[in-house]
Amino acid sequence: MERIGDAELWLGDCLDILPTLPRVDAVITDPPYGMRAFGITKGASANSRWDLKGGGDWAAAWPEWDGEAPPIVGTFPEIAGQVIVWGGQFFPLPMARGWLVWNKIIRNWSSSECELAWTNIEQPVRAFDYSHGQLANEGKQHPTQKPLPLMKWCVEKTTGAVLDPFMGSGTTGVACAQLGRKFIGIEIEERYFDIAVERITNAYRQQRLFGDEPQSIARAGHQRRKGMHAVDPLEAAIFGGARGR
Ligand SMILES: C[S@@+](CC[C@H](N)C(=O)[O-])C[C@H]1O[C@@H](n2cnc3c(N)ncnc32)[C@H](O)[C@@H]1O
Repeated sequence: MERIGDAELWLGDCLDILPTLPRVDAVITDPPYGMRAFGITKGASANSRWDLKGGGDWAAAWPEWDGEAPPIVGTFPEIAGQVIVWGGQFFPLPMARGWLVWNKIIRNWSSSECELAWTNIEQPVRAFDYSHGQLANEGKQHPTQKPLPLMKWCVEKTTGAVLDPFMGSGTTGVACAQLGRKFIGIEIEERYFDIAVERITNAYRQQRLFGDEPQSIARAGHQRRKGMHAVDPLEAAIFGGARGR
C-alpha cells in the first residue's frame, strides 16, 4: 500500500482488499465492462450489431473473476451512500434516475458516441461534453483512461472520502487530489498501479507549486513500495519519510 498525501493506493485484487477497508462516503469507479461476455470486439463498427455469441455468460468471459464481477459492482451501493459506476448499463444495478452521460461530441465513428454512468445520486440525467481529441491531449497512459475533467465533474457531485476499486491509471485519484478530497484506490495490474502512483504524486506536487495545498498534505506521509526517497526539497516538503508496504 502507498500513501500519497490524502490518497491510499492498494496494489491487488479489490475482492481481497475491499473487505479490509473502512466504509467510505462515495464509490466512483470505471470497472472492466466484461464486453467479451457479449461478444463485442475491438473491431466492432458503429453499424454492427452486437454479436451475442458469448451468450452473456460473465463467468465464461471473465474466468479470473470466477463469475464475481457483476455481483461485486452490484454491492457498491451497500458500501457507500453515493455511487457512480461508468459502464453501469453492463452491471446488475437497480433502476436509477440520475445517469451521467459522457458525450464524446464526434458523431458516426467506430466507437461509442457517449458513455454512461449509473448513479444513485438524486438528480436528473446530466451530460458532459469532451471529445477524444481533448483526451488525447491529456496524454493517455491507460487504454481506457477517463478524461480528468470528466472525473473531476463526477467527484464534485459527491462529498467525503472517495473509493475507486478499479482505479487503472488513477484518474479518479488525480481528480480527488486536485479537489482536496480523501481517496482510496485499488488496481490489480502493477504497470497501471505505478502510473497511478506517479500521476497522483504529480497532482499533489502541482498543488504545492501553485500554493494550493490541502491541509492533509502537510501531515500525511508518502511511502514508496520500491524504497524511493524524497528527491528534492519540494518533494521533501510535500511528503514525509518512506515506509514499507
Ligand atoms: C476500465 S479500467 C479503469 C481506467 C481508469 N478509469 C483510468 O482512468 O485509468 C479498469 C481497471 O480495473 C483493473 N482491474 C481489473 N480487475 C481488477 C480487480 N479484481 N481488482 C482491482 N483492479 C482490477 C484493470 O487492470 C483496469 O486497469
